[in-house]
Amino acid sequence: MNLEAALEEIGKAPTLESLQGLKVQYLGKNGLLTQEMKTLGRLAPEERREKGRVLNEWKEALEKALEAREAWLREQALQERLLQESLDVSLPGYAFPSGGLHITSLILQELVGIFRKQGFSVVEGPEVESEFFNFDAINMPEWHPARDMQDTFWVTFDPGPGFTIRGPFGESVNSLGGAVLRTHTSGMQIRYMIQHTPPFRIVVPGRVFRYEQTDASHEAMFHQLEGLVVGPDITMADLKGAISELARGLFGEEGKARFQPTYFPFVEPGVQFAMWWPERQKWLELGGAGMVHPYLFKAVDDYREQQGLPRAYEGMTGWAFGMGVERLALLRYGIPDIRYFYQNRLSFLRQFRG
Ligand code: DAH
Repeated sequence: MNLEAALEEIGKAPTLESLQGLKVQYLGKNGLLTQEMKTLGRLAPEERREKGRVLNEWKEALEKALEAREAWLREQALQERLLQESLDVSLPGYAFPSGGLHITSLILQELVGIFRKQGFSVVEGPEVESEFFNFDAINMPEWHPARDMQDTFWVTFDPGPGFTIRGPFGESVNSLGGAVLRTHTSGMQIRYMIQHTPPFRIVVPGRVFRYEQTDASHEAMFHQLEGLVVGPDITMADLKGAISELARGLFGEEGKARFQPTYFPFVEPGVQFAMWWPERQKWLELGGAGMVHPYLFKAVDDYREQQGLPRAYEGMTGWAFGMGVERLALLRYGIPDIRYFYQNRLSFLRQFRG
């Protein structure tokens, strides 16, 4: 057996398996060194001692070399694995799908934010409303032709004795006419005024319903933002100021508002307002507004009196407005069909994710 050659072979063993093979080849039961050891018995004592010593040295040398090579090969394998398994932090991670806000919510947040900055509070109201709050109390009695402006979902089913429409104090208002899916947010003007005393400024975002044939510009359900400001000396100038501020909030410094006289039963005088859209260089019709009709203050005070509360609106003035939220989004983003809003098609909605 050639020790030099054996050591060299071991030092070059490419894998742990081949190293194991070499171990068996030299040190195994029938290994080369083992066989040499077996020949010792046949030697004379003097020679045996000498050869035994040499063979033991060889054995030690082989074992050391095997160990060293094994350690090296193991270290090498570890390094390779570390290299393969190392985390590449520059790789894009897994995307965990998360929801986003609906385009309607985004626009509403923007609108409400502009009014909050001007000191308005945000108030919400019921979607199933009494005929009284939706119509009568805002000067649209049963015979009033203006009721025809809003095709109405009347809630005609009989839901049983447990069903009541409640007023601001939890009182039943079933006696005050039928129930409707509110056709606008204007009924909240009355609900709020009955419960609060001026001065105040509020905006009311919310869902409204109209019994209409839907088409590209009509939906049976959409959102409005209502505004109401009441105090001792509120004037039309305040209304113009606030709407102009809204125009600047939405369209930047170039934004401005235009008012044209029109009729709504709950305001006098009444206007419709448009805003200048700088990018398109044109006016956008956005909603109605006006000075709160004295009839509303009277209806509110009468109701308060019935509830044992003092009258609070004599001598007050105020202004109100109402605007369509989807309509603003339609024009602003150039969306061709209002029905896209609520078809829940993700390819559409994702474009506006906030
Ligand atoms: N309620 C009206 C509608 O839905 C919008 C409106 C017009 C609201 C004038 C107002 C207002 O508060 O003053 O068509």
